[in-house]
Amino acid sequence: MSDTYTLYNPTVMEHFMNPRNMGDLKDADGIGEVGAAACGDIMKISVKIQNGRITDARFKTFGCGSAIASSSMATELIKGRTIEEAMNFSNQEVVDALGGLPPVKIHCSVLAEEALKAALEDYVKKNPDSAKAQIAVAA
Ligand code: FES
Repeated sequence: MSDTYTLYNPTVMEHFMNPRNMGDLKDADGIGEVGAAACGDIMKISVKIQNGRITDARFKTFGCGSAIASSSMATELIKGRTIEEAMNFSNQEVVDALGGLPPVKIHCSVLAEEALKAALEDYVKKNPDSAKAQIAVAA
């Protein structure tokens, strides 16, 4: 393996080489797309929501290995969570689950948090009444 990869631990590399949940959700209930001003990378997360819970999630990321691994891990972590739980999702969870990221790559995990929250906001905006009801039911 070249020196380029020594920046990342094996878990990050594994999610980079074999990303989970890559692509679009045809019938997505919420879609969030964000960009990192620092590097120009772009991340899109789509979610499917049923009865106040995220039942499926997909991502498309135009970015570095850390951004791809972060999107892969984030989409794995959020499945099954209630909307409220997902609203409190933090990039630190992604960093921890990946076994750490280099300090210069922490902003890549922040992108995953922001894309998820943008997808949830999109869902709530499109379904203001049912979203409120679902949050109450799932709580
Ligand atoms: Fe910017 Fe990774 S370097 S998202």
